[in-house]
Amino acid sequence: MVFTIFMQPKLTHMAIPKEVVWEIDPHTIAKHKILKAYLDAWYPILKSTSSRLNYIDGFSGPGKYLGSELGSPLVVIDLALKHQSLNGVELNFIFVEENLARKENLEKEISVLKLPDHFKIGIVHGEFHEVIGKILDELERSGENLAPTFVFIDPFGFAGIPFSIIERLMKIPRVEVLITFMVNRINQFIGDRKNNQHIINLFGSEKVLEMLDENRGNRYEVLRAFYQKQLHNVAGAKFVRYFGMKDVNDRPIYDLFFATKHPLGHIKMKEAMWNIDNEGLFQFSDGTDQNQIVLFQPDSRKVLFDIINETRTKQRYEVKRIRKFVEDETAFLERHMKKSLEYAEENKFIDVDLIKSNGQKRRGKTFPDDVIINFK
Ligand SMILES: C[S@@+](CC[C@H](N)C(=O)[O-])C[C@H]1O[C@@H](n2cnc3c(N)ncnc32)[C@H](O)[C@@H]1O
Repeated sequence: MVFTIFMQPKLTHMAIPKEVVWEIDPHTIAKHKILKAYLDAWYPILKSTSSRLNYIDGFSGPGKYLGSELGSPLVVIDLALKHQSLNGVELNFIFVEENLARKENLEKEISVLKLPDHFKIGIVHGEFHEVIGKILDELERSGENLAPTFVFIDPFGFAGIPFSIIERLMKIPRVEVLITFMVNRINQFIGDRKNNQHIINLFGSEKVLEMLDENRGNRYEVLRAFYQKQLHNVAGAKFVRYFGMKDVNDRPIYDLFFATKHPLGHIKMKEAMWNIDNEGLFQFSDGTDQNQIVLFQPDSRKVLFDIINETRTKQRYEVKRIRKFVEDETAFLERHMKKSLEYAEENKFIDVDLIKSNGQKRRGKTFPDDVIINFK
């Protein structure tokens, strides 16, 4: 008889790899799925607004993993190659890698690809903040506008991403960032005074040290919420969401912070998050609002209805207003809103007017923008 032992996958608190190329883990695969799903939806939308698009991978890695799985630069190139519709668009890729051997490995991997002329690739050996700092200095000097730019910032820990650089990036109109934020790693550094400056740089404020002192118990949540606030209030990102990745034992692995000024970009990123298939290996949740942490799970009709119901200030709303609220301020999408209103109508938590705001009759059980909802 053969016994199969279901091993706990090696999930968290992994040591930082020293090798040029290392083994991929499930959470990196998940991250790549999100990156891919987002750009897959976003590129076709952006291309109608600009004949040039930029992708910056600030911590690019060596291009491939030990089992030949693609690293983020190749994931994105591969995706762009599949988009025939991007043919007339200049695609600029900038890959930054501080480790020379990894940078050379990435060059080697890219050199064997057959890339069309409209793909422009720059592979830079250096530290993210310095390389980007120089690009931004140059941009400021020239006074030119930057084409729509997606910046993927994926460090191993939390060093090397000073808030001042994120702020400068976010102040540019069409820039958005996706940051792997390893707040759990900060715990290992707290208490050592010489790391204080690191932590201040990361958050862009000395206040962070006071917060650490005052909130020993829930440090993790407090720091995430503070980073979100900084991205909003200081860097001026209109939409900031963070998505927490935890292992099966409920231990945080990383958060993905997404910051954009574009409402549609925000929706597309949430769609990417909702579509992620985790095969039971981890928990993935939206923690943007600490009072309404949302696990990405199939049936969230009640969760969303409660959020809408608790936030509303009036009895009567056009669906359009509810949809805007759901899309801009929660982890959910329009399709969730419709299911949630359907559930509320079935359970008589709401009444729905027979006549829509445009004077026409409502079709039963449908929730287009002009339907009117009465909360009880
Ligand atoms: C988590 S790995 C990146 C993985 C890659 N983004 C992917 O998804 O396949 C982080 C990489 O950043 C590099 N690195 C570390 N510090 C850096 C810095 N300050 N600037 C640029 N790259 C850095 C490391 O050598 C490593 O290859």
